[in-house]
Amino acid sequence: MPPAPRFEGPVSDCPLCPRLADFRHTNRRQFPDWHNGAVPAFGPLDASLLIVGLAPGLRGANRTARPFTGDYAGELLYPSLLKFGRAAGIYGAEADDGLKLVDCRITNAVRCVPPANKPTPAEQKTCRSFLVAEMAAMPKLRSILVLGGIAHAAALSTLGLKKSAYPFKHGQTYSLEGKLSLTDSYHCSRYNLNTRVLTESMFHAALKQAISVI
Ligand code: URA
Repeated sequence: MPPAPRFEGPVSDCPLCPRLADFRHTNRRQFPDWHNGAVPAFGPLDASLLIVGLAPGLRGANRTARPFTGDYAGELLYPSLLKFGRAAGIYGAEADDGLKLVDCRITNAVRCVPPANKPTPAEQKTCRSFLVAEMAAMPKLRSILVLGGIAHAAALSTLGLKKSAYPFKHGQTYSLEGKLSLTDSYHCSRYNLNTRVLTESMFHAALKQAISVI
């Protein structure tokens, strides 16, 4: 088997989306001690599980430089990964907490924080090139857990698959080509958790399902 291609994520000051670059520069002036850059994925490239989120939160991943770290959504995601053996250590909501992912990688559909947490369709499309390259560089990838509709759409487009054939449905696992599976979960955002669109047990069930197909 030929070696998997190397993966280079976006440079921290990625210029590809002008609106996101402007937002980043504004944030840099306002919060000079924060990361304020494209947030690199977390976890090994030889993982069999890939979790795809939406985009860094302003005061969370955009500050700490690690996906979901310091974000409300990370308060459910990381303890769940610890519970199901896909993380080791203690989640301390900072990138230097020593937490390790185990056969698991976490990335985002859009790697720079968007205003109001809403990336435009053009930004989603532009950033997808990094997800394409990242997935191509994961030789053991078997299972993708997507958090929310935007991550679902990004994963399908990355694989050249149509949304009409694979509609988003929380808790659904699709068998894709080869040995790859895609599991849908509602995003573990503050809004979804507070409105109980998503509960802890629903999230655990989806994560367990994504792990069980590996
Ligand atoms: N933080 C992230 O890194 N991604 C999300 O989708 C939400 C919060």
